[in-house]
Amino acid sequence: MRPPPLWLLPLLLGGLGAAAPRLDSFSQLAAPQHLKLHLYNNEQILSWEPSPPSNDTRPVVYQVEFKYVGGSWHKFTEVNCTDITVTRCDFTGGGRSKGFSGIYFVSLRVRAKQGERTSNWVTLTWFQRYCNVTVGPPKNILVIPGKGSLTTHFSPPFNVTKEAAFEYRVHYWEKTGAPQVRGPFKESSIVLSNLKPFRVYCLQIEAQLIGRGKIMCQPGRSLSNVSCHETAADDTTGLQVILIPVGTFSLLLVLTGACFFLFLRYQGRVKYWFQAPPTIPGQIKEYLKDPDQPFLEALDKDHSPKDDAWDSVSIVSSPEKEQDVLRTL
Ligand SMILES: *[C@@H]1O[C@H](CO)[C@@H](O)[C@H](O)[C@H]1NC(C)=O
Ligand SMILES: *[C@@H]1O[C@H](CO)[C@@H](O)[C@H](O)[C@H]1NC(C)=O
Ligand SMILES: *[C@@H]1O[C@H](CO)[C@@H](O)[C@H](O)[C@H]1NC(C)=O
Ligand SMILES: *[C@@H]1O[C@H](CO)[C@@H](O)[C@H](O)[C@H]1NC(C)=O
Ligand SMILES: *[C@@H]1O[C@H](CO)[C@@H](O)[C@H](O)[C@H]1NC(C)=O
Repeated sequence: MRPPPLWLLPLLLGGLGAAAPRLDSFSQLAAPQHLKLHLYNNEQILSWEPSPPSNDTRPVVYQVEFKYVGGSWHKFTEVNCTDITVTRCDFTGGGRSKGFSGIYFVSLRVRAKQGERTSNWVTLTWFQRYCNVTVGPPKNILVIPGKGSLTTHFSPPFNVTKEAAFEYRVHYWEKTGAPQVRGPFKESSIVLSNLKPFRVYCLQIEAQLIGRGKIMCQPGRSLSNVSCHETAADDTTGLQVILIPVGTFSLLLVLTGACFFLFLRYQGRVKYWFQAPPTIPGQIKEYLKDPDQPFLEALDKDHSPKDDAWDSVSIVSSPEKEQDVLRTL
């Protein structure tokens, strides 16, 4: 697949559409019909409809050839497209072949063969891959919701040579809002910022192939599937999210502390209400004997401040159980 020099193009493109001369004789095999070229990302496949059946029962095979503008016709060597029984030639690549490069002008032709009989060649109009290809959406799209933003990472639909590059556009909309577009971007990582926090946005990404001068037309393109994501809080609401639980927790701690002090202060009355048993666990008894000694401080000696509320509550609330234990004795 060695291409001709590009400067030959303008001279040579005109002649390509010319049909092969028709040699209508009754021994002539009918030619394949409806040649179709599939160019999608890397995929390069020529297909056709088989020759109409005749009363010759020998198998029909097909031969495919290509040429660059100004060159001569060649058989494919790296892919099996000579004397094939199937009605398609996939020159995408298999083995060493990477198919046709993007910028060369290529023509293809096919004929049928049955025994010694051959059909006319049927020639497909020229194509230039980077011009005629349909570009698929970016691959491996990953969307990461951020603070009032969505960050997308993806990979290009396929690898291109240095004669072309991709540009990306993001189409996005709020569930009920009008669609908007950002781009073009050259990077395969895009941050949509200044979005509203805690909102669901849907987006689609599109890749466009941009040729550097030698590409003769604008290739087709397609959007990625719709995916929807909720943005996280922005900076201020983020702070709220942190402050609300912290505030609630602090309040609970203060309330627990207050309850605890009330218990200590009015321990006698509490004991009365709960009909406390005549005996009190040794540790508390000691504290009660010496009211000057601060209860909390004493407990703090071996406990972290966070634990103390729970420890003391468990001790203070135990008299009922002790009573039961005493009764059983
Ligand atoms: C079928 O074959 C015979 C001879 O083998 C030939 O004369 C005839 O024209 C053929 N019919 C068709 C429809 O091709
Ligand atoms: C090419 O493909 C045909 C089937 O279409 C097969 O019969 C043949 O063996 C293949 N040839 C090679 C060299 O792989
Ligand atoms: C490739 O695109 C050019 C320009 O749009 C068009 O003229 C040509 O027919 C296309 N080739 C094929 C094989 O579709
Ligand atoms: C594109 O090229 C990169 C690195 O050169 C390679 O890792 C990746 O597999 C290629 N992608 C395709 C679709 O060929
Ligand atoms: C897009 O959606 C279609 C149908 O819903 C699915 O067949 C296809 O695989 C999806 N494409 C990707 C890249 O997820």
